[in-house]
Amino acid sequence: MGRVPRGARDSPPAVGLTPGSRRASRARMETPLRNFYGRRHGKALKPNQRRWLEEGLPRLAIPGVSATENPARHPLDPAALFGDGRPLWLEVGFGGGEHMAHQAACYPHVGLIGVEIFLNGVAMALGKIRAAGVGNVRLHAGDVRDLMEVLPPGCIARAFLLYPDPWPKARHHRRRFVTPEHLGPLARIMAPGAEFRVATDIPDYVRQTLEEVPAAGFALLDGPSATAWEDWPGTRYEAKALREGRRPEYLTFRRS
Ligand SMILES: C[S@@+](CC[C@H](N)C(=O)[O-])C[C@H]1O[C@@H](n2cnc3c(N)ncnc32)[C@H](O)[C@@H]1O
Repeated sequence: MGRVPRGARDSPPAVGLTPGSRRASRARMETPLRNFYGRRHGKALKPNQRRWLEEGLPRLAIPGVSATENPARHPLDPAALFGDGRPLWLEVGFGGGEHMAHQAACYPHVGLIGVEIFLNGVAMALGKIRAAGVGNVRLHAGDVRDLMEVLPPGCIARAFLLYPDPWPKARHHRRRFVTPEHLGPLARIMAPGAEFRVATDIPDYVRQTLEEVPAAGFALLDGPSATAWEDWPGTRYEAKALREGRRPEYLTFRRS
């Protein structure tokens, strides 16, 4: 995808939504002035995916994240997300949502916050959430930087970064999540002692993770390891990596 000029307002299309829900969805998905280089939408959604987006997303979407809804960038009240003070876990770029739905089912006392900017992934994840029958997930269908900006300090008890976009070319490494632009805000919203799990199949991503994450205020607890966490269901991207002969590495950090 070509570079989005800095300053361009870029709203993803609300595919197949009714005018009312399209307006609501657009408000929840619109991003402020950010340069984003990945894909926001892919092939046409299936009818049931369109229905999940239309019906499910407004129910699970976190209000007050987009610049349209919250131009002053007031901090959100984390307790209001689930109506109680439960621990909040954040999954960045959940893809098809299989790991997020699995974690939500395994840990019903936790609130899972999933963020994904690729609309087709959000639609897929809504199906997974529905199939798992879990009620402890909230979503931001947009850029994780927008969400991090409005979360108060220390509110996240665990974070997952699973197979982040690899950006293999050296000149694109600064687009990776493991850069100060992303890790600074992540460190700010994570509680002291909170766990940060990273999985990747790209050796150079392991290298950059080991350099940048500790520099942002995290201590390496475990890894890089070829053995996944005990509660690991795998992800779609991991399955693809394994099929193509790449070797996953798992790293665990703790917020200092
Ligand atoms: C390689 S995929 C991996 C997806 C999933 N975690 C898995 O393992 O199957 C990376 C995902 O991160 C999402 N992503 C990248 N940058 C993002 C951002 N700034 N905010 C939200 N999601 C983002 C992409 O849309 C993509 O779905």
